[in-house]
Amino acid sequence: MDQRIKNVVILGGGTAGWMSAAYLAKALQQTVNVTILEAPSIPRIGVGEATVPNLQRVVFDFLGIPEDEWMRECNAAFKTAVKFVNWRTPGAGQATPRLFEGRPDQFFHPFGLLPSEEEIPLSHYWASKRINGETDEPFDYSCYREPAMMDALRSPKHLDGTPATYYAWHFDAALVADYLRRHATGKLGVVHIQDEMTEVVQDARGYVMALKTKGGRTLAADLFVDCSGFRSLLMNKAMQEPFIDMKDHLPNDSAVASAVPHDDATHGVEPFTSSIAMPGGWTWKIPMLGRFGSGYVFSSQFTKRDEATRDFCALWGLDPETAPLNQVKFRVGRNRRAWVKNVVGIGLSTNFLEPLESTGIYFTYAALYQLAKHFPDRTFDKRLIDRFNHQMETTFDDTRDFIQAHFYFAPRNDTPYWAANKELKLSDSFLAKLEMYKAGIPVNPPLTDEGGYYGNFEAEFNNFWTNGSYYCIFTGMNVLPERALPALTYKPEAIKKAEAHFERIREQQDELVASLPSNYEFLRRLHGLD
Ligand code: FDA
Repeated sequence: MDQRIKNVVILGGGTAGWMSAAYLAKALQQTVNVTILEAPSIPRIGVGEATVPNLQRVVFDFLGIPEDEWMRECNAAFKTAVKFVNWRTPGAGQATPRLFEGRPDQFFHPFGLLPSEEEIPLSHYWASKRINGETDEPFDYSCYREPAMMDALRSPKHLDGTPATYYAWHFDAALVADYLRRHATGKLGVVHIQDEMTEVVQDARGYVMALKTKGGRTLAADLFVDCSGFRSLLMNKAMQEPFIDMKDHLPNDSAVASAVPHDDATHGVEPFTSSIAMPGGWTWKIPMLGRFGSGYVFSSQFTKRDEATRDFCALWGLDPETAPLNQVKFRVGRNRRAWVKNVVGIGLSTNFLEPLESTGIYFTYAALYQLAKHFPDRTFDKRLIDRFNHQMETTFDDTRDFIQAHFYFAPRNDTPYWAANKELKLSDSFLAKLEMYKAGIPVNPPLTDEGGYYGNFEAEFNNFWTNGSYYCIFTGMNVLPERALPALTYKPEAIKKAEAHFERIREQQDELVASLPSNYEFLRRLHGLD
């Protein structure tokens, strides 16, 4: 008997819904009918978005869509790093860095892996020098090529399109959802139904058989994908899968957001996301042409919405009475299981971490990649489901810990919010990593070189936050290892070679600043404005 899945119904047409539709139709080589049900009356979450570099390879290359094409359609811009501003110094929300120990209170978390010498990453040669008082240069400027080009507002690509470094994108999420809708319905045979789901029909075992709609339709399928956003209509409501709230790790649960007009010709376009520390949280700044998306992320436990709105508007000179403000409430955590019986939750219906490291859309396509790999037949083999759930759980919890470390180790302690973050519990697996860091040992070193890591999603998925990322955040927050790696003291030759690496990085920084176009110039050309 043919046990193959014949029909998949996706509930919800936000970024998660349309990415799921396009990805699954492609991955299943159109052997399965994919239908998406979207209620036009129920809005998408709709905030400006930042991403991570594997989006192009894992999603757009997979779909056969060139970068320039989707970037033009989605008002996309480049992101070469996250820049953290004022995470060390007390004070009001301020977009420019204050002074900390004589330097601007800022640091970058760029993409890309650190070079190694004799299998010891450059971070450890830098730490040894810093601990021994041989350098006062910050970690990011010593070990990465990108900080100087970001200060100079350079594009991460040359004018002929050649990439100079790893980068990701900023875009308007609603435009991406619409673009993927056109692609999925136009090229991949996905059926789009605009109607509101009102009832879930389940069999005696609790499997979903069909969705009923306001317009009188009954949509039957073998497998259902819940992309209904925070409502989680299938996973939390119909399947009654519990949501594990992680406020005890990450207390932020609210945001106030807006699009802020920007004079690009005068000020240029920053090729990075900024994360600006505020008295009760932080504000993202996601530059695109002509404007930037921004939002103050805070915890309702410590900051009233009116106060956050006032501080957010003061940061950008907006009038709270007239500026179009998007007030958002969110939950942080994940469903206990992401896949239950014949329902898989993807997007906000199943998990969310606050957007500090831009992981929302990443979790969506990481789940799609894993779903395609573990795609079931109608026997719904429990081992496939368990494996998928395990993969999603570990990657999510690991990211939660990494994000929590930003708040936990931020030196600022000037408000009840910042003080409370220091009291929250850290997971055992994070504490083990912290001990490694303190002892001078690399944390999560990648098991392959940069090409292998970025060329193979499996390698990246299984070790997403590598030693370089931990070093950026720990050193950026002024937390140094307690000691240098003892093995280095036996390697004078390697230390000499590492010095040559540091020198080469300085040269590369100058070369990139000299040879790359401005981000503004590149984006204007890309978007056909010149
Ligand atoms: P979304 O809510 O957008 O969509 C839900 C869909 O379900 C809608 O189409 C709706 O119509 C439909 N629906 C609901 N009920 C229905 C019913 N009864 N019948 C039919 N349809 C129904 N991510 C990232 O990668 N980088 C970032 O910088 C950020 N920043 C960020 C900031 C903040 C404050 C938040 C809250 C989130 C982010 N994210 C993010 C996450 C990102 O926004 C999110 O992952 C994607 O937009 C996906 O959202 P969904 O599609 O899951 O839900």
